[in-house]
Amino acid sequence: MIYLKTAEDVELMRISNRIVAMTLGEIAKAVKPGVTTLQLDALAEDFIRSQGAVPSFLGYAGYPNSICTSVNDQVVHAIPSDYVLKEGDVVSVDCGAQINGFHGDSCYTFCVGEVSEDVKKLLRTTKEALLLGISKAKSGNRLGDVGHSIQEYCEGKGYSVVREMTGHGIGRMMHEEPLVQNYGRARRGLLFREGIVIAIEPIINMGKRGVYLEKDGWTVRTADGLPSAHYEHTVAIGTDSPDILSSFEYVEQILGTNAL
Ligand code: MF3
Ligand code: CO
Repeated sequence: MIYLKTAEDVELMRISNRIVAMTLGEIAKAVKPGVTTLQLDALAEDFIRSQGAVPSFLGYAGYPNSICTSVNDQVVHAIPSDYVLKEGDVVSVDCGAQINGFHGDSCYTFCVGEVSEDVKKLLRTTKEALLLGISKAKSGNRLGDVGHSIQEYCEGKGYSVVREMTGHGIGRMMHEEPLVQNYGRARRGLLFREGIVIAIEPIINMGKRGVYLEKDGWTVRTADGLPSAHYEHTVAIGTDSPDILSSFEYVEQILGTNAL
């Protein structure tokens, strides 16, 4: 069942998502060679709590931390550790926060120092695919329009769409219906209407789409060892334009011209 949100609910979700956006901004300041992913996690948890919110991920299905920090060929859900980020790495930081009963969810893939042109192109394409998918999230369009546009754009550049993980409805629960696939057929699936709020999150591999789950039960890796990228926004379906509740403005203010 899909839980439609009132205009007031959407405003509360904007608050949750602003906290997530600001947390990612704090992460942007800290991502550098020499920093561990566990340090990023501590910083995120402290910042979220300083805003009076609660990290959505912590304790979710037993997840041990407040963010996911997936490096290079780690696709999603990598647990922060004493791994030291090094020049040339990319790290996707997925973050959720709950306040006033509603969750926010967003993810950004950061470069650590200078990163190869190939990898930068993967990141750029994935972020563009997110924005393209979001542009379809309005009344009268269908869920399949989002996935189809993301798939067509990324596969057109020679990349592949990971199918095992999807975006999702979001609200009082972090994961609600519907599933938001990053592939599919245009003009098919759920008809969008005002009040639907979804997290759109393309997960795109440089090489083949195959992935496997590590023995820790969380970390997903590419089968071919090539890098993967992930960007996510929480979006409310508007009448004539999508209403993006999360934001990369804090991140990109910090990254400046280094933002992809
Ligand atoms: N934002 C992630 C997603 O939508 C949720 C991660 S849940 C966690 O898939 F438990 F792994 F943190
Ligand atoms: Co999500």
